[in-house]
Amino acid sequence: MKRIRGAVAAMAALILVSSAHAADRSPQAGIASAHVLATQAGFEVIGKGGNAFDAAVAVASTLAVVEPQSSGIGGGGLFLLHRASDGKQVMVDARETAPAAVNSRDYVDAKGDANRDASINGPLSAAIPGEAAGLVWIAQHYGKLPLKSSLAPAIRIAREGFKPDGRFLKELAMRKDVIARYPGSAALYLVNGELPKAGWTFKSPDLARVLERLGAEGNDGFYRGELARTLVEGVRKAGGNWSLDDLGNYTAKERAPIAFDYRGWRIVSASPPSSGGIALAEMFNILGGYDLAKLDRVHRVHFMVEAMRRAYRDRAQYLGDPDFVQMPIARLLSADYAAGLRASIHPDKATPSDLLPPFLSHGQGTHTSHFSIIDAEGNLVAGTQTVNLIFGSGLVVPGTGFVLNDEMDDFALVPGKPNAFGLPGNEHNAPRPGSRPLSSMSPSFVIGTDRIGVIGTPGGSRIITMVLEGILGFIDGQSPAQIVANPRFHHQYLPDVISAEKGAFTRDEVKALEAMGHKLSESERRWGFMNVVSRDRKTGATQAASDPRGDSGSGLVK
Ligand code: GLY
Repeated sequence: MKRIRGAVAAMAALILVSSAHAADRSPQAGIASAHVLATQAGFEVIGKGGNAFDAAVAVASTLAVVEPQSSGIGGGGLFLLHRASDGKQVMVDARETAPAAVNSRDYVDAKGDANRDASINGPLSAAIPGEAAGLVWIAQHYGKLPLKSSLAPAIRIAREGFKPDGRFLKELAMRKDVIARYPGSAALYLVNGELPKAGWTFKSPDLARVLERLGAEGNDGFYRGELARTLVEGVRKAGGNWSLDDLGNYTAKERAPIAFDYRGWRIVSASPPSSGGIALAEMFNILGGYDLAKLDRVHRVHFMVEAMRRAYRDRAQYLGDPDFVQMPIARLLSADYAAGLRASIHPDKATPSDLLPPFLSHGQGTHTSHFSIIDAEGNLVAGTQTVNLIFGSGLVVPGTGFVLNDEMDDFALVPGKPNAFGLPGNEHNAPRPGSRPLSSMSPSFVIGTDRIGVIGTPGGSRIITMVLEGILGFIDGQSPAQIVANPRFHHQYLPDVISAEKGAFTRDEVKALEAMGHKLSESERRWGFMNVVSRDRKTGATQAASDPRGDSGSGLVK
């Protein structure tokens, strides 16, 4: 059934694509997001005279309403922007921060083992949200419309309600036990303490008021005043340690993206506090030494996996919040460094991860949402936003209407112990008051002489390798609809195994990779929810496609 839905979605995307090709007219806009209502919200504000940046605010805030299990105003995000008028490229960092009272001892039990409950559920798992400040920043610095106009679709949907799709209800069931712990969460997401049934209308008038106040007052409406007091009191009452200063001191930051070249293409991606851009650069720099197009599939996969292994080791070893730790970024991005790593790769044999220089002990969520936008003027937005795991911490402070993130688990809370995604880390990614946890979010642009792509996905630690595979597909000439539908594989250094979606490899390919020394594990589930938009620079033809793995994803060109 899912496959049929995927095929239908891919066909619908192709039909839209052909209509865009057929029309020899000025470029249209393309938006792909995880929910049709969010994609429509983006087009609604473009229809009011907004640009891609206003559309990004509309899409992001609507996702906060219709896909609260993945992202929202209680979480954060990284937004990669390209402004067509002057070519400016910037990353708006709206990543969450650790509260000043953060204490690593809160995340270990009496025996000194990691206390997983504290790091992924409830008040101690919640970092200070950044999403609201990110939306204010984008609207004020890059948008054409007032913030409140771009927030209007989200406010309307939160107030009037919508019918959640099957994915929302399934994922709610997965987190019911945690949601039932907190009265504010149970009142919002459960019906008399039970899971809602299909056909239920979900409304959040409290969230509508929060967004209205954000639109009217900007940052003050979220980070100071009544809402800030309600949040701090609610988190502390539930056992957390937020303060009014934690909220009042939060600022979104502009950072230079990571940009690099690969075989004539310019790739632009997220900089720290995300590991995405650096890991992608390392992998592409290594792969640049092979002519992948001339290799058989098994060797292509082998070299990609060996590049993944090395980049994820460096992620764990070196990366963290750029405001708090020194990172050897220039070295990690250099061609010489990549050449050294490449020289350590045997053409026919896997390198066991424990033969690489040891990672010195000195983690991530599948619930995240990515959207891609290109407008008629050529402005680009790749936005990836998150509450970390499904429904974040599960904690809704009564009266606020939104779930708080559990992004504290993206820190290396207990040095050397992996997080929810099996990712290890060291003190580079230790929580410090006000610091941002290391992310894998990889909103990216691929810029070629003929074509431009905007790409990204949720998927925790797998985000970076999915984006690698998506960019390689784009460079090979695949359409957005093909890219989002491709089966995926992943290696993250530890555990030393290639995980693969069903259908990623034939039986013969599995045998050949195993003969090289690779260990493979086929995953029962499919992963990611990739959203891709592309533009042909000569014809202006625009394509948008949303991953067939998601129920209500929507890629549209208008
Ligand atoms: N919370 C997932 C990430 O930022 O990578």
